[in-house]
Amino acid sequence: MEGARITIIGCGNLGESILKGLIAKETIPSEQLVVTKRNPENLKHYEKHGVRVLSDNIEAIKSADLILLALKPYNVLGVLKELAPAINPDRQVVVSLATGVSIEALQKNMQNNTPIYRAMPNTAADVGASMTCIASNNTSHDALVENCFNTIGESIRVDENLMDAATVLGACGVAFALRFIRGMVQGGIQIGFDSNTASAIVNQTVKGAAELLLQGHQHPEYEIDKVTTPKGCTISGLNEMEHNGFSSALIKGIVTSFESIDS
Ligand SMILES: NC(=O)c1ccc[n+]([C@@H]2O[C@H](COP(=O)([O-])OP(=O)(O)OC[C@H]3O[C@@H](n4cnc5c(N)ncnc54)[C@H](OP(=O)(O)O)[C@@H]3O)[C@@H](O)[C@H]2O)c1
Repeated sequence: MEGARITIIGCGNLGESILKGLIAKETIPSEQLVVTKRNPENLKHYEKHGVRVLSDNIEAIKSADLILLALKPYNVLGVLKELAPAINPDRQVVVSLATGVSIEALQKNMQNNTPIYRAMPNTAADVGASMTCIASNNTSHDALVENCFNTIGESIRVDENLMDAATVLGACGVAFALRFIRGMVQGGIQIGFDSNTASAIVNQTVKGAAELLLQGHQHPEYEIDKVTTPKGCTISGLNEMEHNGFSSALIKGIVTSFESIDS
């Protein structure tokens, strides 16, 4: 992995999160990272780390082993078509991060047998804590692709037909979790804490709750049972939330989000 050269084409919000995560981990020397945008001025400060910042996509992929397409879904096929003649299928692999664009559509625009993967990371890549869902119809470059995303968090392999669902649960999921956290902080302020103290308590509490599940490998209800004393304040609060549609709102939001993906 240390020798791998990675180019991020279309380094916007998600691309920059991945870039920051890769720079911070130092597994890959920053000199091996290249990023592009049409207007790359706001990325120029990464040059002091050794990252090459370009607007020329063809130049950017010349030495790449791994080409990450972090473009908007409506841009990805057009840009890939321009890149295709410059991609060496024996030496390079393309990873598309675009929501709703199939491997079949990507392959059609390549018109050669370049290995293609789809990956759905999230913006927690920024702090090395992404969950990335990976799909491909071949396994030739699994180690390279998985190592890249494991550098910025965890990764999991899924069938391609689950990539829209992966987008909702893993990528949109960051926003869902943050809105939950915001609600907790607002509640904390109403019961007496200032905003900073409420945020400190809530952020660590939510992180701790996730760690209980990650390390304990139990269903959430197993851990909930441990804190719900009969007639106690936890079960009173939980039941009031459920009477107001807490789990139902979350499930409906996830389904609506899934149904709104245009693929
Ligand atoms: N945000 C997330 O949490 C998330 C998570 C998983 C997957 N995704 C997927 O990631 C992709 C990017 O999302 P995003 O939120 O990061 O979008 P974004 O911030 O708009 O980033 C896309 C970037 O592509 C650049 N671009 C456009 N045309 C280009 C071209 N011809 N050559 C080079 N760069 C070009 C744009 O910059 P210029 O205008 O300066 O060129 C822009 O900064 C989407 O397909 C999305 O589905 C996002």
